[in-house]
Amino acid sequence: MADFSSQAHDKKIYFDNAATSWPKPPQMIEAMAEFSCQAGANPGRAGHRMAIDSARIVYETREAIAGLFHCADPLRVIFTSNVTEAINLGLFGLLKAGDHVITTSMEHNAVMRPLRYLQAQGVDLSIAPCSREGYLDPSDVRREIRKNTRMIVMTHASNVSGTLMPAAEIGRIAHENDLLLMVDAAQTAGVIPIDMQKDHIDLLAFTGHKSLYGPMGTGGLVIGERVDLANFKPLKMGGTGSNSENEVQPAFLPDKFESGTLNVIGLAGLLASLRWIDQNGIDQIRAHEASLTRAFLEGARSIENLRLYGPSDAAEKTSVIPFTLNGKDIGLIGEWLDERYGIFCRVGLHCAPAAARTMGVFPDGTIRFSLGYFNQLSEINYALEALRALSER
Ligand code: ALA
Repeated sequence: MADFSSQAHDKKIYFDNAATSWPKPPQMIEAMAEFSCQAGANPGRAGHRMAIDSARIVYETREAIAGLFHCADPLRVIFTSNVTEAINLGLFGLLKAGDHVITTSMEHNAVMRPLRYLQAQGVDLSIAPCSREGYLDPSDVRREIRKNTRMIVMTHASNVSGTLMPAAEIGRIAHENDLLLMVDAAQTAGVIPIDMQKDHIDLLAFTGHKSLYGPMGTGGLVIGERVDLANFKPLKMGGTGSNSENEVQPAFLPDKFESGTLNVIGLAGLLASLRWIDQNGIDQIRAHEASLTRAFLEGARSIENLRLYGPSDAAEKTSVIPFTLNGKDIGLIGEWLDERYGIFCRVGLHCAPAAARTMGVFPDGTIRFSLGYFNQLSEINYALEALRALSER
Protein backbone atom coordinates (compact mmCIF):
# COMPACT_ATOMS: atom_id res chain seq x y z
CA MET A 1 0.00 0.00 0.00
CA ALA A 2 1.34 3.37 -0.90
CA ASP A 3 1.92 5.40 2.20
CA PHE A 4 2.92 8.97 1.68
CA SER A 5 3.35 9.64 5.40
CA SER A 6 6.79 11.20 5.09
CA GLN A 7 5.16 13.98 3.03
CA ALA A 8 1.80 13.92 4.84
CA HIS A 9 2.82 16.29 7.56
CA ASP A 10 3.69 18.96 5.02
CA LYS A 11 0.46 18.46 3.13
CA LYS A 12 -2.82 20.09 3.91
CA ILE A 13 -5.54 18.89 1.62
CA TYR A 14 -8.65 20.31 3.14
CA PHE A 15 -11.81 18.43 2.15
CA ASP A 16 -14.02 19.49 5.06
CA ASN A 17 -15.67 22.56 3.58
CA ALA A 18 -19.17 21.40 4.56
CA ALA A 19 -18.11 21.79 8.19
CA THR A 20 -16.46 25.15 7.54
CA SER A 21 -14.70 26.51 4.48
CA TRP A 22 -10.94 26.84 4.55
CA PRO A 23 -8.89 28.74 3.59
CA LYS A 24 -10.70 32.06 3.68
CA PRO A 25 -10.20 34.88 1.20
CA PRO A 26 -7.33 37.13 2.36
CA GLN A 27 -9.75 40.07 2.08
CA MET A 28 -11.76 38.58 4.98
CA ILE A 29 -8.74 38.44 7.24
CA GLU A 30 -7.67 41.97 6.28
CA ALA A 31 -11.17 43.34 6.94
CA MET A 32 -11.27 41.77 10.41
CA ALA A 33 -7.84 43.14 11.28
CA GLU A 34 -8.83 46.55 9.92
CA PHE A 35 -12.02 46.52 12.02
CA SER A 36 -10.06 45.70 15.18
CA CYS A 37 -7.47 48.38 14.52
CA GLN A 38 -9.56 51.18 13.08
CA ALA A 39 -13.27 50.90 13.89
CA GLY A 40 -13.82 48.58 16.82
CA ALA A 41 -16.69 50.47 18.51
CA ASN A 42 -20.17 49.21 19.32
CA PRO A 43 -22.71 50.05 16.57
CA GLY A 44 -25.91 51.79 17.55
CA ARG A 45 -24.73 52.32 21.13
CA ALA A 46 -23.23 55.78 20.63
CA GLY A 47 -23.24 58.68 18.18
CA HIS A 48 -19.47 59.09 17.79
CA ARG A 49 -17.75 58.46 14.49
CA MET A 50 -16.24 55.14 15.47
CA ALA A 51 -19.67 53.76 16.41
CA ILE A 52 -21.09 55.14 13.17
CA ASP A 53 -18.35 53.38 11.19
CA SER A 54 -19.25 50.10 12.89
CA ALA A 55 -22.95 50.64 12.21
CA ARG A 56 -22.14 51.25 8.55
CA ILE A 57 -20.33 47.92 8.31
CA VAL A 58 -23.34 46.14 9.85
CA TYR A 59 -25.78 47.85 7.51
CA GLU A 60 -23.67 47.19 4.41
CA THR A 61 -23.53 43.51 5.39
CA ARG A 62 -27.33 43.48 5.69
CA GLU A 63 -27.58 45.06 2.24
CA ALA A 64 -25.17 42.53 0.73
CA ILE A 65 -27.08 39.58 2.24
CA ALA A 66 -30.45 41.02 1.15
CA GLY A 67 -29.08 41.49 -2.37
CA LEU A 68 -27.64 37.98 -2.54
CA PHE A 69 -30.93 36.32 -1.55
CA HIS A 70 -33.27 38.77 -3.32
CA CYS A 71 -34.89 40.22 -0.23
CA ALA A 72 -36.18 43.73 -0.93
CA ASP A 73 -35.60 45.13 2.57
CA PRO A 74 -32.17 44.82 4.29
CA LEU A 75 -33.83 45.40 7.68
CA ARG A 76 -35.40 41.96 7.28
CA VAL A 77 -31.93 40.42 7.61
CA ILE A 78 -31.53 39.35 11.24
CA PHE A 79 -28.00 38.46 12.33
CA THR A 80 -27.50 35.46 14.59
CA SER A 81 -24.41 33.62 15.77
CA ASN A 82 -24.94 30.72 13.38
CA VAL A 83 -27.51 28.98 11.19
CA THR A 84 -28.68 26.81 14.10
CA GLU A 85 -29.72 29.88 16.05
CA ALA A 86 -31.48 31.23 12.95
CA ILE A 87 -33.47 27.99 12.53
CA ASN A 88 -34.31 27.98 16.24
CA LEU A 89 -35.55 31.56 15.94
CA GLY A 90 -37.88 30.65 13.07
CA LEU A 91 -39.23 27.51 14.74
CA PHE A 92 -39.59 28.70 18.34
CA GLY A 93 -40.69 32.16 17.24
CA LEU A 94 -43.54 31.05 15.02
CA LEU A 95 -44.79 27.59 16.05
CA LYS A 96 -47.05 26.89 19.00
CA ALA A 97 -48.84 23.83 20.42
CA GLY A 98 -51.56 22.71 18.03
CA ASP A 99 -49.68 23.82 14.90
CA HIS A 100 -48.49 21.26 12.37
CA VAL A 101 -45.07 21.43 10.71
CA ILE A 102 -43.67 19.34 7.85
CA THR A 103 -40.02 18.50 7.35
CA THR A 104 -38.00 15.90 5.43
CA SER A 105 -36.09 12.78 6.36
CA MET A 106 -32.77 14.37 5.26
CA GLU A 107 -32.52 17.05 7.92
CA HIS A 108 -29.58 18.00 10.10
CA ASN A 109 -30.09 18.03 13.87
CA ALA A 110 -30.19 21.84 13.67
CA VAL A 111 -33.73 21.28 12.35
CA MET A 112 -34.57 17.92 13.91
CA ARG A 113 -33.67 18.62 17.54
CA PRO A 114 -35.77 21.79 17.91
CA LEU A 115 -38.60 20.04 16.05
CA ARG A 116 -38.46 17.02 18.36
CA TYR A 117 -38.54 19.41 21.34
CA LEU A 118 -41.51 21.26 19.90
CA GLN A 119 -43.23 17.97 19.18
CA ALA A 120 -42.97 17.11 22.90
CA GLN A 121 -44.63 20.51 23.59
CA GLY A 122 -47.66 19.72 21.41
CA VAL A 123 -46.59 20.73 17.89
CA ASP A 124 -47.59 18.07 15.31
CA LEU A 125 -44.70 16.92 13.14
CA SER A 126 -44.69 15.09 9.79
CA ILE A 127 -41.51 13.89 8.13
CA ALA A 128 -41.70 13.49 4.35
CA PRO A 129 -39.59 10.50 3.30
CA CYS A 130 -36.70 10.92 0.85
CA SER A 131 -35.03 8.30 -1.34
CA ARG A 132 -31.71 6.67 -0.42
CA GLU A 133 -29.97 9.25 -2.60
CA GLY A 134 -31.68 11.99 -0.60
CA TYR A 135 -34.20 13.05 -3.26
CA LEU A 136 -37.47 14.55 -2.10
CA ASP A 137 -40.64 14.08 -4.12
CA PRO A 138 -42.69 17.29 -3.62
CA SER A 139 -45.93 15.27 -3.74
CA ASP A 140 -44.82 13.59 -0.50
CA VAL A 141 -44.84 17.01 1.14
CA ARG A 142 -48.16 18.00 -0.41
CA ARG A 143 -49.73 14.80 0.90
CA GLU A 144 -48.86 15.75 4.48
CA ILE A 145 -50.63 19.12 4.45
CA ARG A 146 -53.47 19.40 6.99
CA LYS A 147 -55.81 22.09 8.23
CA ASN A 148 -53.42 23.10 11.04
CA THR A 149 -50.21 23.01 8.95
CA ARG A 150 -48.30 26.23 9.51
CA MET A 151 -44.84 25.67 8.14
CA ILE A 152 -42.60 23.52 5.96
CA VAL A 153 -38.97 23.51 7.05
CA MET A 154 -36.28 21.82 4.99
CA THR A 155 -32.66 21.83 4.04
CA HIS A 156 -31.67 23.34 0.70
CA ALA A 157 -29.06 20.59 0.26
CA SER A 158 -28.17 17.74 2.56
CA ASN A 159 -24.89 18.06 4.48
CA VAL A 160 -24.50 14.27 4.22
CA SER A 161 -25.42 13.37 0.63
CA GLY A 162 -25.17 16.80 -1.01
CA THR A 163 -28.55 16.26 -2.69
CA LEU A 164 -30.13 19.51 -3.85
CA MET A 165 -33.73 19.79 -2.70
CA PRO A 166 -36.59 21.08 -4.87
CA ALA A 167 -36.97 24.31 -2.88
CA ALA A 168 -38.79 26.20 -5.64
CA GLU A 169 -41.41 23.47 -6.04
CA ILE A 170 -41.91 23.22 -2.29
CA GLY A 171 -42.13 27.01 -2.19
CA ARG A 172 -44.93 26.91 -4.74
CA ILE A 173 -46.79 24.31 -2.68
CA ALA A 174 -46.31 26.37 0.48
CA HIS A 175 -47.54 29.51 -1.27
CA GLU A 176 -50.62 27.82 -2.77
CA ASN A 177 -51.58 26.47 0.65
CA ASP A 178 -50.80 29.64 2.59
CA LEU A 179 -48.00 27.98 4.57
CA LEU A 180 -44.61 29.37 5.49
CA LEU A 181 -41.48 27.82 3.99
CA MET A 182 -38.25 27.97 6.00
CA VAL A 183 -35.11 26.84 4.18
CA ASP A 184 -31.88 25.81 5.90
CA ALA A 185 -29.28 27.07 3.43
CA ALA A 186 -26.24 26.06 5.54
CA GLN A 187 -24.76 24.09 2.65
CA THR A 188 -25.79 26.26 -0.29
CA ALA A 189 -25.69 29.98 0.56
CA GLY A 190 -22.91 31.41 -1.60
CA VAL A 191 -22.60 28.53 -4.06
CA ILE A 192 -26.15 27.83 -5.28
CA PRO A 193 -28.23 30.85 -6.31
CA ILE A 194 -31.15 31.52 -3.95
CA ASP A 195 -34.03 33.83 -4.83
CA MET A 196 -36.42 34.13 -1.90
CA GLN A 197 -39.03 35.92 -3.97
CA LYS A 198 -39.06 33.65 -7.00
CA ASP A 199 -38.84 30.49 -4.89
CA HIS A 200 -41.42 31.66 -2.30
CA ILE A 201 -39.00 31.20 0.59
CA ASP A 202 -40.42 32.98 3.64
CA LEU A 203 -37.56 32.34 6.06
CA LEU A 204 -34.01 31.77 4.91
CA ALA A 205 -31.52 30.56 7.51
CA PHE A 206 -27.87 30.95 6.49
CA THR A 207 -24.41 30.61 7.95
CA GLY A 208 -21.50 32.88 7.15
CA HIS A 209 -18.62 30.45 7.60
CA LYS A 210 -19.27 27.81 4.94
CA SER A 211 -19.91 28.72 1.29
CA LEU A 212 -20.06 32.42 2.10
CA TYR A 213 -16.36 32.07 3.08
CA GLY A 214 -16.82 34.30 6.11
CA PRO A 215 -15.80 33.78 9.74
CA MET A 216 -17.36 31.43 12.28
CA GLY A 217 -19.91 33.06 14.56
CA THR A 218 -21.81 34.70 11.72
CA GLY A 219 -25.17 33.77 10.22
CA GLY A 220 -28.74 34.92 10.16
CA LEU A 221 -32.37 34.62 9.28
CA VAL A 222 -33.85 36.57 6.38
CA ILE A 223 -37.54 37.16 6.96
CA GLY A 224 -39.86 37.40 3.97
CA GLU A 225 -42.86 39.67 3.67
CA ARG A 226 -45.52 37.02 4.22
CA VAL A 227 -44.33 36.38 7.77
CA ASP A 228 -46.63 37.85 10.45
CA LEU A 229 -44.16 39.87 12.52
CA ALA A 230 -46.67 40.65 15.26
CA ASN A 231 -46.92 36.95 16.10
CA PHE A 232 -43.21 36.18 15.75
CA LYS A 233 -41.52 35.86 19.15
CA PRO A 234 -37.83 36.73 19.60
CA LEU A 235 -35.48 34.10 21.05
CA LYS A 236 -33.84 36.69 23.28
CA MET A 237 -34.62 40.18 24.55
CA GLY A 238 -32.40 42.93 25.87
CA GLY A 239 -30.45 46.00 24.86
CA THR A 240 -30.69 47.10 21.25
CA GLY A 241 -29.33 50.64 21.42
CA SER A 242 -32.80 51.83 20.37
CA ASN A 243 -35.81 52.98 22.49
CA SER A 244 -33.61 52.89 25.59
CA GLU A 245 -36.25 54.68 27.64
CA ASN A 246 -38.54 51.69 27.25
CA GLU A 247 -38.33 48.42 29.16
CA VAL A 248 -40.36 46.60 26.51
CA GLN A 249 -38.60 44.98 23.55
CA PRO A 250 -38.88 47.09 20.34
CA ALA A 251 -41.36 45.72 17.79
CA PHE A 252 -39.47 46.97 14.72
CA LEU A 253 -36.85 45.21 12.60
CA PRO A 254 -34.13 44.22 13.04
CA ASP A 255 -34.05 45.26 16.72
CA LYS A 256 -36.94 43.01 17.73
CA PHE A 257 -34.72 39.97 17.13
CA GLU A 258 -31.21 41.37 17.69
CA SER A 259 -30.54 42.01 21.37
CA GLY A 260 -27.02 42.33 22.72
CA THR A 261 -23.87 43.40 20.94
CA LEU A 262 -23.53 41.91 17.48
CA ASN A 263 -20.46 40.03 16.24
CA VAL A 264 -19.35 43.10 14.30
CA ILE A 265 -15.80 41.91 13.69
CA GLY A 266 -17.32 38.76 12.19
CA LEU A 267 -19.73 40.80 10.07
CA ALA A 268 -16.81 42.95 8.84
CA GLY A 269 -15.14 39.74 7.67
CA LEU A 270 -18.37 38.42 6.19
CA LEU A 271 -18.89 41.64 4.23
CA ALA A 272 -15.43 41.31 2.69
CA SER A 273 -16.18 37.68 1.82
CA LEU A 274 -19.52 38.61 0.23
CA ARG A 275 -17.72 41.14 -1.94
CA TRP A 276 -15.12 38.53 -2.84
CA ILE A 277 -17.95 36.13 -3.87
CA ASP A 278 -19.49 38.87 -5.95
CA GLN A 279 -16.19 39.48 -7.74
CA ASN A 280 -15.67 35.79 -8.47
CA GLY A 281 -19.32 35.12 -9.29
CA ILE A 282 -21.46 32.37 -7.77
CA ASP A 283 -21.69 30.69 -11.17
CA GLN A 284 -17.94 30.39 -11.43
CA ILE A 285 -17.61 29.12 -7.86
CA ARG A 286 -20.33 26.54 -8.50
CA ALA A 287 -18.81 25.50 -11.85
CA HIS A 288 -15.38 24.94 -10.27
CA GLU A 289 -16.77 22.92 -7.36
CA ALA A 290 -19.02 20.88 -9.66
CA SER A 291 -16.13 20.06 -11.99
CA LEU A 292 -14.02 18.83 -9.05
CA THR A 293 -16.97 16.80 -7.76
CA ARG A 294 -17.49 15.27 -11.20
CA ALA A 295 -13.78 14.38 -11.44
CA PHE A 296 -13.85 12.75 -8.01
CA LEU A 297 -17.03 10.78 -8.72
CA GLU A 298 -15.64 9.53 -12.03
CA GLY A 299 -12.31 8.49 -10.51
CA ALA A 300 -13.89 6.90 -7.44
CA ARG A 301 -16.09 4.62 -9.55
CA SER A 302 -13.01 2.68 -10.65
CA ILE A 303 -11.75 2.10 -7.09
CA GLU A 304 -12.56 -1.38 -5.98
CA ASN A 305 -14.71 -1.59 -2.85
CA LEU A 306 -15.33 2.14 -2.70
CA ARG A 307 -19.04 2.76 -2.35
CA LEU A 308 -20.43 6.15 -3.17
CA TYR A 309 -23.70 7.48 -1.71
CA GLY A 310 -26.03 10.25 -2.83
CA PRO A 311 -26.69 11.47 -6.38
CA SER A 312 -24.30 10.20 -9.03
CA ASP A 313 -24.68 13.37 -11.11
CA ALA A 314 -22.64 16.36 -9.89
CA ALA A 315 -25.32 18.70 -11.27
CA GLU A 316 -27.82 17.36 -8.74
CA LYS A 317 -25.68 17.87 -5.68
CA THR A 318 -23.30 20.17 -3.86
CA SER A 319 -19.64 19.22 -3.54
CA VAL A 320 -20.36 16.98 -0.55
CA ILE A 321 -19.30 13.40 -1.35
CA PRO A 322 -20.08 10.58 1.09
CA PHE A 323 -18.52 7.13 0.69
CA THR A 324 -17.36 4.01 2.47
CA LEU A 325 -14.31 1.89 1.69
CA ASN A 326 -14.05 -1.91 1.90
CA GLY A 327 -16.63 -1.82 4.68
CA LYS A 328 -13.69 -0.74 6.89
CA ASP A 329 -14.05 1.27 10.07
CA ILE A 330 -14.62 4.78 8.81
CA GLY A 331 -12.88 6.31 11.84
CA LEU A 332 -9.75 4.43 10.94
CA ILE A 333 -9.93 5.55 7.30
CA GLY A 334 -10.32 9.16 8.47
CA GLU A 335 -7.26 8.75 10.67
CA TRP A 336 -5.20 7.21 7.86
CA LEU A 337 -6.21 9.91 5.43
CA ASP A 338 -5.05 12.54 7.88
CA GLU A 339 -1.87 10.92 9.17
CA ARG A 340 -0.56 9.18 6.07
CA TYR A 341 -1.84 11.42 3.31
CA GLY A 342 -2.48 14.85 4.84
CA ILE A 343 -6.14 14.75 3.76
CA PHE A 344 -8.63 16.32 6.18
CA CYS A 345 -12.23 15.20 5.99
CA ARG A 346 -15.12 14.35 8.30
CA VAL A 347 -16.35 10.84 9.13
CA GLY A 348 -19.45 9.63 10.95
CA LEU A 349 -23.04 10.83 11.07
CA HIS A 350 -22.32 14.53 10.41
CA CYS A 351 -24.93 15.57 13.03
CA ALA A 352 -27.68 14.23 10.78
CA PRO A 353 -28.90 10.81 11.99
CA ALA A 354 -32.15 11.17 10.02
CA ALA A 355 -30.21 11.55 6.78
CA ALA A 356 -27.97 8.59 7.64
CA ARG A 357 -31.06 6.42 8.28
CA THR A 358 -32.57 7.53 4.97
CA MET A 359 -29.36 6.67 3.13
CA GLY A 360 -29.05 3.30 4.89
CA VAL A 361 -25.75 4.16 6.62
CA PHE A 362 -26.92 4.45 10.22
CA PRO A 363 -25.28 4.06 12.76
CA ASP A 364 -21.77 4.11 11.32
CA GLY A 365 -22.23 6.89 8.80
CA THR A 366 -19.81 7.68 6.00
CA ILE A 367 -16.49 9.22 5.15
CA ARG A 368 -17.30 12.64 3.73
CA PHE A 369 -15.19 14.71 1.39
CA SER A 370 -16.58 18.21 0.94
CA LEU A 371 -14.83 20.39 -1.60
CA GLY A 372 -14.51 24.14 -1.86
CA TYR A 373 -13.51 26.85 -4.29
CA PHE A 374 -9.85 26.71 -3.19
CA ASN A 375 -9.45 23.00 -3.97
CA GLN A 376 -7.62 21.98 -7.13
CA LEU A 377 -7.88 19.07 -9.55
CA SER A 378 -4.38 17.93 -8.51
CA GLU A 379 -5.71 17.43 -4.96
CA ILE A 380 -8.59 15.32 -6.25
CA ASN A 381 -6.17 13.13 -8.21
CA TYR A 382 -3.89 12.77 -5.18
CA ALA A 383 -6.87 11.80 -2.97
CA LEU A 384 -8.03 9.22 -5.54
CA GLU A 385 -4.55 7.68 -5.49
CA ALA A 386 -4.60 7.58 -1.69
CA LEU A 387 -8.03 5.92 -1.64
CA ARG A 388 -6.94 3.41 -4.28
CA ALA A 389 -3.95 2.51 -2.10
CA LEU A 390 -6.14 2.17 0.99
CA SER A 391 -8.68 0.02 -0.86
CA GLU A 392 -5.93 -2.45 -1.77
CA ARG A 393 -4.92 -2.84 1.84
N1 ALA B 1 -23.06 20.65 10.04
C1 ALA B 1 -21.70 20.78 9.67
C2 ALA B 1 -21.24 19.56 8.93
O1 ALA B 1 -21.98 18.98 8.23
C3 ALA B 1 -20.86 21.16 10.80
O2 ALA B 1 -20.10 19.15 9.03
